Amino acid sequence: TRRQLLRATAAAAVLAPLVPAVTGCAPGEVVPETQFGARLPIPPLDEGTLDGGTRTFRLAPQAGTHEFVPGKPAQTMGYNGAYLGPTLRAARGERVRVAVENRLTEATTVHFHGMVLPAAADGGPHAMINPGASTNPEWTIDQPAATLWYHPHPHGSTEKQVGYGLAGLFILDEPGTNEAAALPHTYGVDDIPLIVQDRRLDADGKITFDPAGNSLGTLGNSIAANGTLGAVLSVTTQRVRLRILNASNGRWFKFGLADHRPFHMVASDGGLLAAPLELTSVQLSPAERAEIVVELKPGESVMLRSFAPDLGRVNPPDAFGGGKEFDVVRLDAAASLAPSAALPAAFAALPAPEGTTTAVSRSFTFNGRSINNKTMDMNRIDFTAAPGEAEVWFVDNVSAYQHNVHVHGVQFRLVDIDGKQPPPERAGWKDTIPLLPREQNRIAFRMPKYADSEHPYMYHCHLLTHEDEGMMGQFLVAEAGAAGPAGSGTPSPH
Ligand code: C2O
Ligand code: CU
Repeated sequence: TRRQLLRATAAAAVLAPLVPAVTGCAPGEVVPETQFGARLPIPPLDEGTLDGGTRTFRLAPQAGTHEFVPGKPAQTMGYNGAYLGPTLRAARGERVRVAVENRLTEATTVHFHGMVLPAAADGGPHAMINPGASTNPEWTIDQPAATLWYHPHPHGSTEKQVGYGLAGLFILDEPGTNEAAALPHTYGVDDIPLIVQDRRLDADGKITFDPAGNSLGTLGNSIAANGTLGAVLSVTTQRVRLRILNASNGRWFKFGLADHRPFHMVASDGGLLAAPLELTSVQLSPAERAEIVVELKPGESVMLRSFAPDLGRVNPPDAFGGGKEFDVVRLDAAASLAPSAALPAAFAALPAPEGTTTAVSRSFTFNGRSINNKTMDMNRIDFTAAPGEAEVWFVDNVSAYQHNVHVHGVQFRLVDIDGKQPPPERAGWKDTIPLLPREQNRIAFRMPKYADSEHPYMYHCHLLTHEDEGMMGQFLVAEAGAAGPAGSGTPSPH
């Protein structure tokens, strides 16, 4: 319609003038204008096959080509395809195995981000899979329903491999709960995976990187939703659930509807919130997820937009190039919509954060590309923790620009930010939190219950340029007396 055309033109106008500031593109570099109209692709749902009681998935990382710009194929990487990967799905209590066969010409790993699992199955930088080689990590799903994801983690080349397209969602279900039935849950119909990434495309529509171009590392000039620029989702139900992942290298998004209508956030990284939370925007740093439920009226069209993010003491807010506004995906409602169940007033209560007064306390200072003045050394274990032990971490950012922090193998709770209660959208289960400049965040969690004195877990900044450049450390979870320098975490000054 004319209205949609006008909107598409307006959307293109929003993107076009911003491009030089956002990208640090070389002068004369032309960036495609985004017209909204392409159908939003839905990654295939993969529920694996049952093999002797073990739900078995197959992932083959491989090279391919993908057109972000019609007629301009770009070299990419994907799992079982050219770009991104299938949405894996399993349920609490199930034994799962992921058979990975590396069809790339370089080594990779497959890390299960947000999964509570033994370190040997976690797929961190020690779990390298050479070209042509295979691995078969397996574990038992032992955590609530959530939207997790998987991606490569080879130390020093994570930015490039994720940037070329290696990423996919891993949905966990918790059967038998009332919540599952109350929320939209038909995959691809009213339960929509949405992997949002900024990509730095050149004039030929090819993916490029610019790790040194900005304090945040590579920032893109185009926004892809499930690998597509200017995508449109046709909605056929009154309510639609979007499982949003920020899979960007270094960009913050602040998602909301262009007309500022409220929506409900129902889950954060590691599972449901205590109750549906009415918001007009939700901000996600790289690797964070939010599940939101949007209500639509028949025949209407509304843009999911990323507003300029709130970056605390970053001054001016776009000082490092990450503060722009983008259109992400347009939601077009059908002329008649199937009714959806009303959202429940509350979900199950969340437990209070664990042992914040009695726990082992550690502090981590994020600065430049270092944590506690150290950069990643594959041969250094930063500390050893006891299985299942309650820990409290103080995580400070002393840089002038933003970082974030992700801890492997656990879901944690954000206790406070500069001593104040976290915003409700970050009060539930988290595995990644933003670290805005000169903010101190306190998190609490229980260490994984799996002891292993050989395989470490990682903690790191999830701005992938920063991670590749060394903003990462490693810890073992092992019984006292096991290998590793026990108790070597920096004692807390707090
Ligand atoms: Cu999403 Cu250590 O990674
Ligand atoms: Cu960082």
